[in-house]
Formats: sequence, C-alpha cells, structure tokens
Amino acid sequence: MNTPLHDIYARKRILITGGLGFIGSRLAHKLVELGAEVCLLDSLAEGSGANRFNLNGIESQVRVVIRDVRDEAAVTPLLAGQDFLFNLAGQTSHLGSLQDPVYDLEVNALSQVKLLEHCREHNPAIRIVFAGTRQVYGRAASLPVNEQAPPAPIDYNGVSKLAGELYHLVCSRIYGLRTTVLRLTNIYGPHMRVKDARQNFIGWWFRQLIEGQPLEVYGTGEQVRDLIYVDDTVEALLLAAAEPDSKGMVYNLGGQPLPLRELAQLMTQIHGFGTWGLVPFPGERLRIDIGSYAGDYGLLHSLTGWEPKVSLQDGIARTLDFYRRNREHYW
Ligand SMILES: NC(=O)c1ccc[n+]([C@@H]2O[C@H](COP(=O)([O-])OP(=O)(O)OC[C@H]3O[C@@H](n4cnc5c(N)ncnc54)[C@H](O)[C@@H]3O)[C@@H](O)[C@H]2O)c1
Repeated sequence: MNTPLHDIYARKRILITGGLGFIGSRLAHKLVELGAEVCLLDSLAEGSGANRFNLNGIESQVRVVIRDVRDEAAVTPLLAGQDFLFNLAGQTSHLGSLQDPVYDLEVNALSQVKLLEHCREHNPAIRIVFAGTRQVYGRAASLPVNEQAPPAPIDYNGVSKLAGELYHLVCSRIYGLRTTVLRLTNIYGPHMRVKDARQNFIGWWFRQLIEGQPLEVYGTGEQVRDLIYVDDTVEALLLAAAEPDSKGMVYNLGGQPLPLRELAQLMTQIHGFGTWGLVPFPGERLRIDIGSYAGDYGLLHSLTGWEPKVSLQDGIARTLDFYRRNREHYW
C-alpha cells in the first residue's frame, strides 16, 4: 500500500462506532488530521473506556451521536453515505461478559448483524473494519499465533466477538460487502481506561505506578503478552481499510512479546520508582485466563507493510507522562 493515507481519507465520510473510547477516539484524531469528515457513535457505556476528554482538541471538528449501537433506529441513518465504517463499539470486559452474557451478545453480535444487514441493503459500497480480538483463540497451542489457528474462546466475550467477526466475514463472502477483521491484542497508551482492572490490567498498572502502589502480577508472571501502542493500532486500522485486497479477510496484530513479570519490571524502571510482586491468581480470573499469547502479524505485514513502530520503552514512557499530566480526567 503505497498511497499516502491523506490521499485515501481526505474528504471521505467516516463513521466510528465506539468513537469516544480509547482506540476509537485516537482513530478520530488521526482521521481529522487526514482531512476526513468524521462522525462518532457512542453510548458512553458504563465500565468502558468512553471519555469525553478523549476528544479534547477536535470537539468542534467531529459529529458526536450519543446512542447505543443496539438502537437500530439511531444507527441506520448514520450509515447513509458513509465511505468507511470503523466498527469499534464493543462490550470489552471478559468478566463482564460472564456477569451479563445477554448484553455482551447483543452488543458484540446481534447489533453487528443488524448493522451489516442495513449496509448491504442501503450502502453496499461502504468499507468496514471490525475490531476483533485475540481472545477468540483461547489458550494458544504455540506462539506466535497466526490466523490459521482454530478459534477456541474460553469466555463468553470471546464467543460474542467471534460471532461478530464471523458475521462480517460471511457477509463479505455471500454479499460481497467490503469487510475486514483485525484481531487486536493488548493495546495500550494515553487515553485508555485506568479506573480499574475490569477491562485491562495494563491501564490499572499505569495508575498503580503513579499512585505509588505495588503492581500485582498474577501467578508466576511468566505468561507472555505482546502489547501494541495505540498509534500503531490506528495505523493498522487505516491501512487495512484502505487496502482493497483485505476484503473478507481476518488479520492478527502483534507486538513485542514479553512475560508479565518483565513488563512490570520495565514499567517500574521507566517510571523511576515503584515495586511489583507476584500474587495468586484470583479464581474468577484464572478460569478465563488464556495463558501466554503473541500474535503473528506476518499476513497483515505482507499486505500493507504494517509493523509496530513505537517501542515498548517509548510507549510506556509516553503513557506515564500523559497520565501524570491528565489524571483528573481519567481517575
Ligand atoms: N484495547 C484492547 O486491548 C483491545 C483488544 C482486543 C479488542 N479490542 C476491541 O477494540 C474495540 C475498542 O476497544 P477499546 O479498547 O477502545 O475500548 P473502549 O471501552 O475504550 O471503547 C469502546 C467504546 O465503545 C462504546 N460502546 C460500548 N458499548 C456500546 C454500545 N452498546 N453502543 C455504543 N457504543 C458502545 C463505549 O462507550 C466505548 O466508548 C472493542 O470492540 C474491543 O473489543 C480492544
């Protein structure tokens, strides 16, 4: 993909569901910078990363619609005339999916079918990228995991997200809709939710560090994760949407793999002080823990040239700096 992103997105009409959340809002900032006409749909879902401050600086340059993606009457008019849909609204908590499986299913799967059905009837030329998750793989047999690995989710959220992505892919196969799925892994960076560990332990670790609290690493700390900085994720979304050959395809993202105990060590080092320690896995988390994960992003790389650019060291430093300055908006 050699065409500059500006040439692809300038003056294009874009809808981002989940646009006030962590990734959606970063994507919105980038698209505004690229000269796109951006509309954001978001329900400000409780327990999510939704935050109005995420739009700081672009409030007057985007259209914001506060409605639920499950609300068909609200969503369908927004799809008319859009060139691109970045479909990021989701119930993202794994524990949350066990506490309210029906809500999880409605947001991550049912509303997706309705949205796709509407697009194929009324806006079949739209380009759609769906934010999938590595959670669909469950416990990986070997690392790194490529797209050929069989899906085997181990919690309800993995099931509903898998259903959501399959609807996108099948809709492409049957009706020719231009959909693409990116399976994201642990995304981190400024503007992520740090209120608690409900969604993501990394955000919580940033907050704990800044508050002078020890980082709790579950189990042996040997479990591997491959974190990706949010700017790299935004670039992957934009490249995947722009590439015609990504139609009907699913791609992994992947970052720099390392065990969580090393991540905790690195974060305390970069912060300059702080401690971390191993604690027993809480039972409710252990039963849905995926063990180690690292994604093989070779397929996306061969198509678009995408690879993570922001090193873990740099990304952690940037994130700490952001929360030291902006805690009043995120605590
Ligand atoms: N952050 C990660 O590490 C990660 C990993 C894998 C997949 N993903 C996927 O990426 C997408 C974005 O994640 P994020 O990290 O930005 O999460 P986030 O919680 O920060 O953003 C999600 C946004 O969706 C909105 N939303 C939730 N339910 C909604 C509904 N019913 N109607 C309208 N809006 C609704 C929320 O209000 C929130 O603003 C999600 O679909 C998630 O499953 C993220």
